[in-house]
Amino acid sequence: MTAPASAAAHDSLAHDPSIGDPSTGDRSGGGGHAEPAISARGLVRTYGTGESAVRALDGVDVDIARGAFTAIMGPSGSGKSTLLHVLAGLDALDRGSIRIDGTEITRLRDDALTALRRDRIGFVFQSFNLLPMLTAEQNILLPLDLAGRRVDRTWFDTVTGAFGLTDRLGHLPSELSGGQVQRVAIARALITSPAVVFADEPTGNLDSATTAEVLDFLRLSVDEFGQTVVMVTHERDAAETADRIITLADGRIATDEEIAR
Ligand SMILES: Nc1ncnc2c1ncn2[C@@H]1O[C@H](COP(=O)(O)OP(=O)(O)O)[C@@H](O)[C@H]1O
Ligand SMILES: [Mg+2]
Repeated sequence: MTAPASAAAHDSLAHDPSIGDPSTGDRSGGGGHAEPAISARGLVRTYGTGESAVRALDGVDVDIARGAFTAIMGPSGSGKSTLLHVLAGLDALDRGSIRIDGTEITRLRDDALTALRRDRIGFVFQSFNLLPMLTAEQNILLPLDLAGRRVDRTWFDTVTGAFGLTDRLGHLPSELSGGQVQRVAIARALITSPAVVFADEPTGNLDSATTAEVLDFLRLSVDEFGQTVVMVTHERDAAETADRIITLADGRIATDEEIAR
């Protein structure tokens, strides 16, 4: 089973209500229905108490469409990281509901939430967090190893081939270029075919050439593989790689734009 091989193939799949059916080999999020990858309502998250309390999220409603690339922008302190963390089930809410891939995560027990995060969520960290003693291949396969899941060699070959990593798989991170390290990190986030890949300022520490490469490969993940991607960035140029830009201000959605492609 292979993923859609072109953007056109992806487009036709994106409107197919059977998307996500395992029998079709679709990789874009599972569920077998057209429900958004994430549906969040009434999100409120306060840090601290009393005089010093900060409402990091102050009533956010958002749906994240399957197979789309969504950017979250906004000034420092506007709540971007908090929103990403609560949508990924990494941080608790004061109020509100979040459905990931059809599962209401705010009512899950800790062990079920941990399993959902492990199986249905991918992360690309700003520092990329490759393990230095593991090869590129071992780093990419780590999420499957940790989950005790079988490796789908066809999918592994498809992702690493699309990312130009086939010749680099036996190398340690220290033997890879900066751009190759980022590609390994993105491939690692894709390997479990998660419902959503989250990236918090993935280009925050990079030069402009490597930034462009990371954005290209996130875009490719969406266009070639139907992956749902949510990226936080404070750079307009980076955000315009996405299909949609949500701008936060003071813990609320200030603007929500579709980007013409
Ligand atoms: N762990 C925390 N403890 C206290 N305040 C926090 C914490 N995390 C975030 N905040 C506050 O919440 C607000 C939103 O933060 P954050 O989501 O990190 O914004 P952004 O990612 O847009 O810069 C800020 O005022 C920040 O200081
Ligand atoms: Mg932040």
